Amino acid sequence: MSNRENFSSTFGIIAAAAGSAVGLGNIWRFPYVAGENGGGAFLLIYIFIVLILGIPLLISEMMIGRRAQANVIGSFKKLGPKSSIIIGIIGLLAAFIILSFYSTVGGWTIHYIYASISGEVFKLDYQQYFTNFKDKSFLPLLWQVIFLIMTAIIILGGVKKGIENCSKVLMPLLILMLIILMIRAVTLPGSKSGIDFFIKPDFSKVTGKTFLAAMGQAFFSLSIGMGAMLTYGSYIKKDQNLTFIGFSITIADTLIAILAGFVIFPTLFSFNVAPNQGPGLIFVTLPAIFDQMPWGAGFSTLFFILLLIASLTSSISLLEVIVAVLKEELKWSRTLSTIITTILVMCLGVFTTLSWNTFQNLFITTAQGNCMYIFDICDYFSSNILLPLGGFLIMLYVGWYLKKDVFYEELSAGVNNKFTLSLRSMIFFIVKYIAPLVIILVFLNGLGII
Ligand code: PFF
Repeated sequence: MSNRENFSSTFGIIAAAAGSAVGLGNIWRFPYVAGENGGGAFLLIYIFIVLILGIPLLISEMMIGRRAQANVIGSFKKLGPKSSIIIGIIGLLAAFIILSFYSTVGGWTIHYIYASISGEVFKLDYQQYFTNFKDKSFLPLLWQVIFLIMTAIIILGGVKKGIENCSKVLMPLLILMLIILMIRAVTLPGSKSGIDFFIKPDFSKVTGKTFLAAMGQAFFSLSIGMGAMLTYGSYIKKDQNLTFIGFSITIADTLIAILAGFVIFPTLFSFNVAPNQGPGLIFVTLPAIFDQMPWGAGFSTLFFILLLIASLTSSISLLEVIVAVLKEELKWSRTLSTIITTILVMCLGVFTTLSWNTFQNLFITTAQGNCMYIFDICDYFSSNILLPLGGFLIMLYVGWYLKKDVFYEELSAGVNNKFTLSLRSMIFFIVKYIAPLVIILVFLNGLGII
């Protein structure tokens, strides 16, 4: 397979993989999940899970992809045994479901660019504005289709040109913007209790569900457990240091989520908005903060444009998981694979986007009495069940099937410093024993089984 496309440089790989990791998960999902799960204690548990599960799994996925030089199905087919293909199938399913609701939120983001330019987002009560918009039928669907078409167009450009170039420019700008917003947020009157909520852990609120939510969020945010990093790993050349890449992506991703927390929570408390708003949280909070800034509408437009780009560099990695399989396993052209996948995602996407409109009668009620609509079910099921399940199987696969020699060989390629090499045994030990155990415990506990 010498003609496979490759990333050109270490920076290019990190930009593309960090581009996959950093997206709506950090800025939209992290604050709302943290807000629903008690703030500070959630943050601590989240960081713990990122370290103990996130880094080892990210590295494991990349090494499988690089070793096999193939997509999420092809890799397991090549490296064997046959039954391991199930891991690829779980990944495909997760990519498909995530993309369907991810594009709903991507569509909301595009709408907020429009609403910032027209100024209409600042006219009404922010909460009211968001609910009115989200409950419509035509507009959210239109934006979702546009978001998916944008994703498809980038994917049609191929790996190097499309993914790498797009990711390289955006990240620094987005970080700068978040820092500006954070400064505004923490200087708002009454913001101190928001900061406390976010960094002072209140362990009385911690339950098994908190751990499950933190694990789901970590997997979602790092794009792991479903083969996105495996697919990107397959485009990485043998002279690249996977350990370094894994750590860099994880650190960048986590810092950006924390930064987003420092924007959202101080603002929430300053405006007396409850932190457990659910998926609409940033769309209610951010307009409030922009309204308090000079050139607010301009900043708001710029921010949502950056968020859109960040979400596109993630959605392309989701689409690429599926397209790579169709292209390499079924020998379809990149164009056909992209078009068919996009249409299929849109079919499920109609249901997620119209969760609060046409399909508002389709919901389940949780033990706490909250309604979960199709959107919430897709979000919960993919992040909290499919990704950890995929991650669990990948760790077992690497630890018990591929074994130490292969792991060491992949983690030594392109490495010439002793410290990095010395980390191999610890990471392998975690992959083989600790991580699978932690996932099982969090799973069983979170689902109320133990
Ligand atoms: N990590 C992305 C985000 O935080 O927005 C979402 C995502 C991308 C999840 C790719 C899973 C994935 F495979």
